[in-house]
Amino acid sequence: MKLTCVGCGPGDPDLLTLKAVERIKDADAIFAPTSKLGKPSIALSIVRKYIIEESTLVVNLLFPMTKDKETLKLQWKSNADNIARAVLEGKRVVYLTVGDPSLYSTWIYIHREIIENYKEIEVEIIPGIPSMVAFAATAKMSLAEGDQTLGIVPACYDIERIKRTAGSCDTVIFLKDGRYFDGVIEMLSEVGFDDYSKITIAQDVSSEGEIMKTGRLGDLKKHKNPSGKYFSLMVAKRDDKA
Ligand SMILES: C[S@@+](CC[C@H](N)C(=O)[O-])C[C@H]1O[C@@H](n2cnc3c(N)ncnc32)[C@H](O)[C@@H]1O
Repeated sequence: MKLTCVGCGPGDPDLLTLKAVERIKDADAIFAPTSKLGKPSIALSIVRKYIIEESTLVVNLLFPMTKDKETLKLQWKSNADNIARAVLEGKRVVYLTVGDPSLYSTWIYIHREIIENYKEIEVEIIPGIPSMVAFAATAKMSLAEGDQTLGIVPACYDIERIKRTAGSCDTVIFLKDGRYFDGVIEMLSEVGFDDYSKITIAQDVSSEGEIMKTGRLGDLKKHKNPSGKYFSLMVAKRDDKA
């Protein structure tokens, strides 16, 4: 009895591992996260072309965009129970997640519930290309070299914690929600990024509608950032003056 989590990469269906594609093709049941019922799952849309058997059961699971811990906990448990039921029926079950499963993913909560409540289920995790790595390839940039430090920060939480991390890193990757980037750009000067620091902002990397823009911190402070979507990321490089 095995549950496989597949990292689906950033958006381009050609950016999945061979093992990921194999597991999807072999699956009897595929579960995929969505933030609203009725809204298509991004992870599912990435792998659609690999679901070849008409008999494969495909289920969207709700992961609401709320910070309310009680609501989330109940939903994670109910989603994990749904998935576990399919595994216990003897189905080959795949759970899909965008990018890599280990980074800010819905899988982390499912995995915790499964470990706690379904010890008989074996878990397999297939890594995926994380958004920031796909971003670096598209932007043709390095994220860190030599003794430089690299921080990964979710932009939509406590600004004081964000400041502390940004203040101690040479390169900072901001994930989760482009709508917070204007506030973050303002804050970068306070933690020692000068006006010539290079900032690159991207939305929908490796998918249709991809946006990528590079500018200097000083210029970006005067304009609104070009990305107002959740699926956005921003990289700030302190010492890249090229
Ligand atoms: C819940 S986290 C999932 C991260 C994912 N597990 C990964 O490895 O990249 C969602 C955030 O990842 C970033 N993200 C994921 N895919 C992206 C893409 N194709 N383009 C831009 N940002 C992306 C955005 O910052 C988004 O708000």
